[in-house]
Amino acid sequence: MAGILGVVILALYGDRTPYYQNPITYEQSYTKLTPLGQAQQLQLGSYLRSEYLNPGSPSFISGVHADVIDDRQLLVRADNGGEGGAIVDSAVALLQGLFPPTPRSRTNLANGSTVIGPMGGYQYIPIESVEPEQSIQLEGWSSCPNFEKHVRAFYDSADFKMKSREAAPFLNAVKPYLYGIPNTLENMIYDYLHTNYIHNETYAFRLPPTFLQQAQAWVDYHEHGIFTGKNADGIGNIAGRTILPSVISSLERVANVADPLSLVVQEISYKPIISLFNITDVTERFPDLQGLPTYASALAFELRNNEEGETYIRTRFKNGTDGFETIHLFGHKDDIALNELLYRLDLTAVRDTAQWCRECGQRTERGCNLCRPNADIEIQDAGESPNENCAARFFGFMTSPYARVVAIAAFAGLALLGAAKLYRTRRVRLAGYDPLPTTNTIQVLWPPVYGTM
Ligand SMILES: *[C@@H]1O[C@H](CO)[C@@H](O)[C@H](O)[C@H]1NC(C)=O
Ligand SMILES: *[C@@H]1O[C@H](CO)[C@@H](O)[C@H](O)[C@H]1NC(C)=O
Ligand SMILES: *[C@@H]1O[C@H](CO)[C@@H](O)[C@H](O)[C@H]1NC(C)=O
Ligand SMILES: *[C@@H]1O[C@H](CO)[C@@H](O)[C@H](O)[C@H]1NC(C)=O
Repeated sequence: MAGILGVVILALYGDRTPYYQNPITYEQSYTKLTPLGQAQQLQLGSYLRSEYLNPGSPSFISGVHADVIDDRQLLVRADNGGEGGAIVDSAVALLQGLFPPTPRSRTNLANGSTVIGPMGGYQYIPIESVEPEQSIQLEGWSSCPNFEKHVRAFYDSADFKMKSREAAPFLNAVKPYLYGIPNTLENMIYDYLHTNYIHNETYAFRLPPTFLQQAQAWVDYHEHGIFTGKNADGIGNIAGRTILPSVISSLERVANVADPLSLVVQEISYKPIISLFNITDVTERFPDLQGLPTYASALAFELRNNEEGETYIRTRFKNGTDGFETIHLFGHKDDIALNELLYRLDLTAVRDTAQWCRECGQRTERGCNLCRPNADIEIQDAGESPNENCAARFFGFMTSPYARVVAIAAFAGLALLGAAKLYRTRRVRLAGYDPLPTTNTIQVLWPPVYGTM
């Protein structure tokens, strides 16, 4: 059998500047993808390319246009929430590794001349930026009052109190390295230590050995407690449950041979990943997956047909720069049948905004004021904006063909911005990547001479 049917990928953003999250509401401060983060994402993109777009790879997607992209085969979405542009920028950088510039991105004109796209054939790929005000899918936990109750209950639990006492000696010892940040277990001091440890030489030299590892163990405990729940369909798992409809509809579309879609990438924060591992029972057998995933990690659901033509899902996880490792969902010892997976995921999915508003106890924000209670209106065209109703109706323009053209133009601009940034960091050498153009080439090709927009 040649190749796989396709793959649905959840990718985590790369290295970013320090940021602060409110320990109760998880409201986030601004953060920015760093050049290191850009390089990590580009590397992730190249790795995914070598897995899925390289005809020599066992996981090559059959029928995919691996060189010059066919937009209909690829869907890219990125969380555009509180982190500023860090996640959307991560998607831009990832795509540059996944579909690098190629001189084959060219067109022959009637007068016999050939034009190669700007910057050596840069590929302009639309990215859907998912705004939390318009969709609950990629940020299901924010502005969710019942989730805040769950967070408070976790901090009030006997286990958390016991862990706080256990952590106290470390939290006291680390105080001089926090410069005024409260040294409580509720507060996620790890991000401050970690980002400074990476970016500040003085700090990295001064921080005593094991402090970073200790902080990581505590943040792993903390984030697991917050973003999971005893019940897979409970409020603790809201981050995973709200992303599920997009995963389900992506799997369905990729499995459908009449639909050209074969590669889906959703760039997200770490919260849905922690929750999904809990929902799919992965952490029982792979306890390492309980904590905070490393920057530029990726979770891939690969669709494969067996000899009888039945579709199975192989799930693989890539921890930062490590390679993919196969993990098994729902206690299975092998790949899981697509139908079983869809059935099980569907049991916990938060299908639409109306359901989210009810489960969160939210009435006013994030489109909930537009939802009539108990009005579950099915959206027929799952391909466009799956399982959204009230918000989707209000922001109906988002899915109109005209808006798509505007959005594609906007994202082409955004992607170009990413290209410009990347161009400045081109000394990072990565395998499988066409050489980037010199300044001269850019000047010749950009701005384009014949704009008819
Ligand atoms: C061919 O057409 C393009 C676009 O109109 C123009 O820029 C280019 O100079 C033409 N080439 C020749 C050889 O006429
Ligand atoms: C780096 O860390 C040192 C020591 O902790 C601190 O004094 C300094 O302000 C930090 N530099 C920056 C740019 O944050
Ligand atoms: C999911 O997380 C809860 C804690 O929130 C834990 O009790 C449960 O065992 C976890 N489930 C799995 C499969 O790890
Ligand atoms: C991922 O890698 C980091 C650092 O390389 C390590 O600390 C962590 O345990 C790994 N996590 C998993 C799930 O393998």
